[in-house]
Amino acid sequence: MNIVITQDYEEMSMQSAKFVAENLLKDSKKISIGLATGSTPTGMYDILVPIINLGIFNERVFFYNIDEYCNIDLNKNGTCKKYLLDNFYSKVSINAKNIYFLDEFNYKNYDNVISDFGGFDVLILGIGKNGHIAYNEPGTSFNSLTHIQELSVESKMQHEVDFGSIDNVPEKAVTIGIKTIMNSKCILLMASGKEKAKIIKKSLKGEIDKQVPASVLQLHPNLHVVLDKEAASLL
Ligand code: GLP
Repeated sequence: MNIVITQDYEEMSMQSAKFVAENLLKDSKKISIGLATGSTPTGMYDILVPIINLGIFNERVFFYNIDEYCNIDLNKNGTCKKYLLDNFYSKVSINAKNIYFLDEFNYKNYDNVISDFGGFDVLILGIGKNGHIAYNEPGTSFNSLTHIQELSVESKMQHEVDFGSIDNVPEKAVTIGIKTIMNSKCILLMASGKEKAKIIKKSLKGEIDKQVPASVLQLHPNLHVVLDKEAASLL
């Protein structure tokens, strides 16, 4: 595991974008990238937009979201689709056929689509305060593939601001599984802020335990972690 500790959110975003860009430039083959949503990667997407718009990768980069809420109009605020459209896809000049949206209706085929690439080339992850990655909540099997997941109260509270109130947060989400995550060739885990410090310590230095989903990442052979100094403060 390679851990980079940065001064602040801006530097975390810059270092993360640099890592993704280096992977894009590594060779000229097709590349698949799994994209996290949430407040953490927004700054990184801003930095990646002009890099993608250089136009040198357009046809060979494929983007995938990694989770999505169920039972909700996906054009509404708070959904992963809307987040990615607003923060990334609407700003980059890429072919629509290179963007794949996961939802509750197409998820059964998602692992096949991803495994056609031999797993994600780069998977970008944030982390929930309870250790969830994508939307794999505590207790999820390390053997899980893409599935529907009941959301924990903690996760719903973490995202109530995205939906206006906790009552508007959907009860369920569809998410790539832990096995899907671990099949990625390379994983970038990002975290910022002191409210992530405890779970970052537990996940990266604690016991590997399905009650802390992110702890499984310790077993990944190619994990790159970028933290700001607050998120890294207990390491
Ligand atoms: C949500 C998303 C995850 C994300 C996590 C962290 O649950 N589904 O993909 O990593 O939140 O969110 P934030 O970056 O806002 O803390």
